Amino acid sequence: MKLAIVGVGKMGRSILDGILRSGMLSPEDIGVLDTPERTLEVARETGTRPLSLPDLRYAERVLLSVQPKDIAALAPQVAHPNVGYISIMAGVSTAILSRRLGTRRVVRCMPNLAATIGKSSTAITGPREAEEAGDLAFTRQLFATVGDVYELPERLFDAFTGMSASAPAYIAVVAEALADGGVKQGLPRAQALRLAADVLIATGELLRRKHPAVLKDEVSSPGGTTIYGLAALEARGVRAAFIEAVEAATQRGQALGREDGV
Ligand SMILES: NC(=O)c1ccc[n+]([C@@H]2O[C@H](COP(=O)([O-])OP(=O)(O)OC[C@H]3O[C@@H](n4cnc5c(N)ncnc54)[C@H](OP(=O)(O)O)[C@@H]3O)[C@@H](O)[C@H]2O)c1
Repeated sequence: MKLAIVGVGKMGRSILDGILRSGMLSPEDIGVLDTPERTLEVARETGTRPLSLPDLRYAERVLLSVQPKDIAALAPQVAHPNVGYISIMAGVSTAILSRRLGTRRVVRCMPNLAATIGKSSTAITGPREAEEAGDLAFTRQLFATVGDVYELPERLFDAFTGMSASAPAYIAVVAEALADGGVKQGLPRAQALRLAADVLIATGELLRRKHPAVLKDEVSSPGGTTIYGLAALEARGVRAAFIEAVEAATQRGQALGREDGV
């Protein structure tokens, strides 16, 4: 078994789907472990192997995609020699993973919800032992099946989490607020929501080609409608609000990593 996935919730399942879609591994190379019902359900739907805890010793690598609070109880049950571990648990450092799992073959990853549609930006990091055992290379390949992969020094992981991994929620709030603005001015709700989603997608595409300031200046003609809208946003401190959001989320990541029990 090339890979066992422990925790096939939103993220674990998205990653599994990405691997199978890409053909990186075939279903019989993969085992899944979650609650008994979910294990069977996912195994049936995907053709992967339903596992129980003792089976993990036969895995070459184990992907841990449970909630961070579950790692303390789970680690002693999944720790085996000669297995490489890949974790997507927010705020759980490679040092904690190594200590709990009793190996330096650990890779820490931070994907985001866009993994569910194959468009995640995933940060990865791991110690020399993980590099030498091929775990980092395997992880790079694994997350390339659900988007782009960035190797990042671990000291920047909380910042990456606070900005990139949390951003889908921030931008969802922006979309909802934009739609509320449209509804306030008389647009039907469904149309306003659709327009908000479309403009975010289109703007995202444009931002891959242009600096944000250039894009903003192009839309803002002198004395026109957009500059009036922008002035209202600036008066509400929208930039400061986003900078503070990333800072607060980064600090929360740091605090989670320090909390007892993790
Ligand atoms: N969602 C995101 O956008 C996102 C982004 C980046 C990283 N992450 C990280 O990804 C991890 C998973 O997040 P998620 O959103 O996929 O959570 P989730 O949907 O709650 O999935 C976790 C799954 O693991 C199962 N589980 C819990 N304890 C287990 C155990 N001892 N053995 C086997 N399975 C167990 C859960 O079952 P029960 O529901 O029955 O507990 C659930 O099905 C978290 O650590 C999170 O920090 C999430």
